[in-house]
Amino acid sequence: MVDLLPGEIEQWQALEAIIRETARRYHFQEIRTPVMEQTELIARGVGQLTDIVSKEMFAFDRGEDRYVLRPEGTAPVARAFVQHHLAQRGGCQRLFYIGPFFRAERPQKGRQRQFHQFGAELIGASGAIADVEIIAFMLAVYRQVGISNITLKLNSVGDPASRNAFRKALHDYFLPLKDDLSEISRKRLDTNPMRILDSKEEEDQPLKAGAPKIIDYLTPESKAHFDAVITLLEKMHIPFERDPFLVRGLDYYTETAFELVSPDLGSQDALGGGGRYDLLIEEVGGQPTPAVGFACGIERLMIACEALGITLADPAGPDLYFVTRGEEAAQWALENMPALRGKGIVCTMDYSGRSLKAQMKDANRQGARFAVIVGEQELADNRFTLRNMAESDEVTVSPDELADRILP
Ligand code: HAM
Repeated sequence: MVDLLPGEIEQWQALEAIIRETARRYHFQEIRTPVMEQTELIARGVGQLTDIVSKEMFAFDRGEDRYVLRPEGTAPVARAFVQHHLAQRGGCQRLFYIGPFFRAERPQKGRQRQFHQFGAELIGASGAIADVEIIAFMLAVYRQVGISNITLKLNSVGDPASRNAFRKALHDYFLPLKDDLSEISRKRLDTNPMRILDSKEEEDQPLKAGAPKIIDYLTPESKAHFDAVITLLEKMHIPFERDPFLVRGLDYYTETAFELVSPDLGSQDALGGGGRYDLLIEEVGGQPTPAVGFACGIERLMIACEALGITLADPAGPDLYFVTRGEEAAQWALENMPALRGKGIVCTMDYSGRSLKAQMKDANRQGARFAVIVGEQELADNRFTLRNMAESDEVTVSPDELADRILP
C-alpha cells in the first residue's frame, strides 16, 4: 500500500480529470460503490476457483456477515445495477468508476495490495458495437495522456457451449503431458484447464504452444460475434493483436476478452483488461442482461508515464504570499485573504512570525508568483510593496489594486 503525497498527487488529479472528461465525451456516468462487499457476491461473481477469490481476498466477519474489501469493480457494479433496478431507467446503463481496490498479492513493481483502477461498464447491449465502444473509451484515455506504445490483445472465450467443448479439448490435450506441466498448471488441469494457457511458468511454454485454440471451438454464434468485433475494430482503425492464449483471471467473461499491454511495465505488463460478461447480472440475481466493460490500473499507467517522461501536471505554487512583520500585519493578512481567494487568487502566508528573510525564502520555496510585504509603515500608509518573484521587480499598490495586478 502506498501513500500519495503532494508533488505526486497533482499527476493523479490531472489523470482523473482526463478520465472524467473522456467519460463525459463518451457519455458514461460515474458510479461509486462501497469499498466493502459481501464475500458471497465476489465469490459468485468473480468465481470461487479464481486466484482472486481463493487466495487474494482481504476478508473479515462481523457477526453473521462476511465481508471482503472489493478486489475489482464489475461484480459490485452488477450488484448495484440489480439492487437499484437500473434496468428500469431504460436503454443501456453506461457507468464508469475510479477508486481503490484490494488484492492480497505479493507486492512488486506495478502490483500492490491497495491499488487503483478506472473502469467502465456498458450494461444492456449485446452487439459487437458495444464491445468496440468500450475498447475505444479505454484507448481514448491513453491517447489523451499521450501513451501510444501499447498493444491491444484480443481473444474470444466464447459462450458456455464453446467453453465446455474447449475445456474438454484442453483437458484431453494436457492430460498425457501432465507430468511435464508446472505444479500450478497440474492443479488447474482438473479445476480450470483454461487457466493453464495463462501460465507464465517456463516449463509450460512449449506445452502451451501446441495446445488447441478456442477459436476452433467457438459455436457459430460466438464466432459471428468475434468476427463482428474484429470487423468493427478494423473499421475504426483500432490496431489489435489476436492472442489465442488470452483467458483473463476472472470467471465471469463470455465472448470478447481483451487486455492492453505495455512494453514499459516489465513483468506486470497489463495496463488494463476487460471483456463481455453476459451471464454475470443473472448470476448476481438480476434478469439476463448482456454487458461489457474494462478496468485499468492507475499505478501502472503512472509507471508508463514515468518511463515515457510524460508529466500531466506540476505542483502549482500560490499566486500570492503575504510576508508580514508583527502581529497586527499578520491579522491584516488573515482578514484580507478571503476576498482575494473569492476572486480565485491562491493566497498563503507565514503562520509562525518568522523573520522577513525567512518568509521571503519560504515564498520562493513554495513557488509563489507574488509576495506582498505588510509592515507597520505599510499599514499606516495603506500602500504595500508587491514583488513579482520571477522578475524580481516591485511596485507599490493599494489593497484595491492587488487583485488586478495578480490575476493574469
Ligand atoms: P483485472 O484484469 O483483474 O480486471 O484488473 C484490471 C487492471 O487492474 C489490471 O490490468 C492492472 O492494470 C490493474 N491491477 C490489477 N491488480 C493489481 C494490483 N494488485 N496492483 C496494481 N494494479 C493491479 C478487472 O478487475 C475487471 N473488473 C475488468 C473488467 C471490467 N472486466 C469487465 N469490466
